[in-house]
Amino acid sequence: MAFCQLAYVSDVSRSNGCYHPDDLSHLVACAKRNNVRDGITSFLVAGNSGFVQLIEGPRVAVMSLFDRLESDPRHSNLVLLHKADVSLRAFPDNPMCLMQADSEALSRLECAVPALGQGLYSKLTAEAAGLA
Ligand SMILES: Cc1cc2nc3c(=O)[nH]c(=O)nc-3n(C[C@H](O)[C@H](O)[C@H](O)COP(=O)(O)O)c2cc1C
Repeated sequence: MAFCQLAYVSDVSRSNGCYHPDDLSHLVACAKRNNVRDGITSFLVAGNSGFVQLIEGPRVAVMSLFDRLESDPRHSNLVLLHKADVSLRAFPDNPMCLMQADSEALSRLECAVPALGQGLYSKLTAEAAGLA
């Protein structure tokens, strides 16, 4: 079975001034429940100012999630870094793996998704450097 693999970066939205670690636990709990339902696995890197997320799963489910993500006011400036059909998932075991933004999280992404490529990966690295 072919899976769709998609990665993006985005900025934390602070317009309502209420971003808090508790908000992230609520977000992750909902996302986990939905991802189990939709057959999606995900790797979310979260920092003080932004997110990097890889999502993988059946194409229709991944595109539906991406639509929801694009209209989610909790983040903004969402930039698609990578989209591909793959035969195997890079992170097959976890519906929502959350990591704090640091070099370990980035190197796990780099190893798992070489298709991000140097150009895209340097963008991701630059974005993520501002996350910690
Ligand atoms: C950084 C970030 C990552 C998210 N990741 C997921 C996810 O992996 N799965 C998911 O269903 N929702 C995720 N969401 C939430 C979605 O944007 C959306 O609010 C949610 O899917 C709506 O679910 P509901 O219809 O059950 O309320 C994420 C939101 C943000 C801001």
